[in-house]
Amino acid sequence: MKDIIEIIKSRRCIREYLDKEIPDEDIKFLIDCAGYAPSGLNMQPWAFLVIQNKDKILKLSETCKKSMIPILEGMKNTSKTAGDFLAFLKKEGSDIFYGAPVLVIILGNRNAPTAVYDCAMAAQTMMLAAQSIGIGSCWIGAAQRTLMDEKLLREIGAPQGYIHVAPLIFGYPKGKPEIPERREPEVVWIK
Ligand SMILES: Cc1cc2nc3c(=O)[nH]c(=O)nc-3n(C[C@H](O)[C@H](O)[C@H](O)COP(=O)(O)O)c2cc1C
Repeated sequence: MKDIIEIIKSRRCIREYLDKEIPDEDIKFLIDCAGYAPSGLNMQPWAFLVIQNKDKILKLSETCKKSMIPILEGMKNTSKTAGDFLAFLKKEGSDIFYGAPVLVIILGNRNAPTAVYDCAMAAQTMMLAAQSIGIGSCWIGAAQRTLMDEKLLREIGAPQGYIHVAPLIFGYPKGKPEIPERREPEVVWIK
C-alpha cells in the first residue's frame, strides 16, 4: 500500500495493457473499496457489471466506434483532440478499450436522486484503489453514448432499473505514461 497522496498524484489514465488477466479477488477488492465512497442519503445506489470476455469487449468497442464517429466528424474542425480521436477510431482494429482485460461498468439505480454523482465517486475510489495495487485504469467516456441505449445495456447484462454511469477499464499497465499538463485551477477565495 502506498501513501494516499502519492497514489492520487501518480494515477494515470492507462491506454496500453499487458496481456495478463486480473485475478477475480483483486477485482472484488476494487469493488469493495468502491463501496466505501460517499453517497447521497447513504443510498449506495451502485451496481457493477464486470465484463472479462475479450470478444464481448471488442464487440462493444465496434458498436461504440460506429456511434462516436459521426459526432466527432462534426467536431473535428473546431477541436484538435476530437480530430485526433476521430483518426484513432477510424484506424482498422482500433479498440476504445485499449485491449484491457476487464471492463467494469458502474451502474446507478435510477430511483436514487444522486446516483450519477455517487457512482462517479465510486469510480474514482476504484481507480485509486487500483493504483494502490499496481493496476492501471481509465474511464472510457467514448462508450457512454452507446450505453445510453437501454436495450443494449440490458443485453450486455445490466439489471433492470439501472442506468450506466462509469465505464472503467482495468489491467496491468504497459509502461508509465507522462502526466498530461495540469492547469492552475481558478480559485475564488472569500474570507
Ligand atoms: C468522464 C471521463 C471520460 C473519459 N473518456 C475517455 C475516453 O473515452 N478515452 C480515453 O482514452 N480517455 C478518457 N478519459 C481519460 C482522460 O482523457 C484522462 O483522465 C485525462 O487526459 C487526464 O489524464 P490522467 O488521467 O492520466 O491524469 C476520460 C476521463 C473522464 C473523467
